[in-house]
Amino acid sequence: MDHLDITQPDDWHLHVRDGDFLKTVVPHTAQHFARAVIMPNLKEPITTTQMALAYKERILKSVPSHMTFEPLMTLYLTDHIKPSEMAVAKANGIVALKLYPAGATTNSDLGVTKLSHIYPVLEEMQKHGLLLLVHGEVTDPAIDVFDREAVFIDRQLAPLRRDFPGLKIVFEHITTQEARDYVKSVDSGLAATLTAHHLLLNRNAIFKGGLRPHYYCLPVLKRETHRLALLEAATSGDARFFLGTDSAPHLASLKEHASACAGCYTAPVAMSLYASAFDAVGQLDQLERFASLNGPAFYGLPNNSAQLRLTKSTHQVQAAYPYGLGELKPLFAGETLEWSAQLI
Ligand code: DOR
Ligand code: ZN
Repeated sequence: MDHLDITQPDDWHLHVRDGDFLKTVVPHTAQHFARAVIMPNLKEPITTTQMALAYKERILKSVPSHMTFEPLMTLYLTDHIKPSEMAVAKANGIVALKLYPAGATTNSDLGVTKLSHIYPVLEEMQKHGLLLLVHGEVTDPAIDVFDREAVFIDRQLAPLRRDFPGLKIVFEHITTQEARDYVKSVDSGLAATLTAHHLLLNRNAIFKGGLRPHYYCLPVLKRETHRLALLEAATSGDARFFLGTDSAPHLASLKEHASACAGCYTAPVAMSLYASAFDAVGQLDQLERFASLNGPAFYGLPNNSAQLRLTKSTHQVQAAYPYGLGELKPLFAGETLEWSAQLI
């Protein structure tokens, strides 16, 4: 197969930051994706509907005039968020709330310290049909960093699902066989997003020929058995698994640093990467479900009408982009990719 046309995809998990940075990163997503779920973990997190609507306007101002793009806005859960905010959020088109266990990842210090603190909020979310998006890692320092996702399932996710059976939950950027199996064991109300980097790479990438900070993200890359389990889920056509890049831009100077920030910047190359991952196992015919159909079905949104063409033609990934006063390096910078993507 040398080309494939699919319904235009959406990115169900994306970081775009704020201010001048938007001008660099928003066009990279909008050139391929119709919509994206915007993560609320700014330095000052997006905790109210009013903040989310103002942020949405700033994102829309960064969309070049020849592109169309719809940011799907989310709020950041804190211990103090008000249950009454949920009705306001729903009425203003907010699609979901994001649960960051406090301290789990970038800008999560104001996240939730104990799930019981947000039970009244979860009650309201369930009532109004707002989705819960979870960063599924425990923060207990006694738990090995490679085990934090699997432990999260037993300690947090299973009790949460038991107590809120009507709440729709997305287990974000899953990285383990345990998470895949757990999602498969649940018939309705639970789905998972998968990044391109977790489908293509295992943890060896972080250490190949030296410490490589551009491959460092959270949850961290896992061993090969997990990558294969994730790839099986993504390419199986199972409606519970869909695309979420977790593209997370950081200044190159902060990635190439003694304490490197977590996050892989994949927005400009994401569709090429997913196509390569599916092609490698002979499952390109399942890419449309994963990238374009399963996500809208879970979120209760219509499919997009435009088409994206993926062509098997090599291209070189740009080495870096100007980013604020510094630069931004995409994953696989300078390397050659096998697939190219273009809206038709
Ligand atoms: O690697 C990551 N980067 N994981 C996250 O959960 C957050 C993200 C970011 O915001 O940079
Ligand atoms: Zn993320």
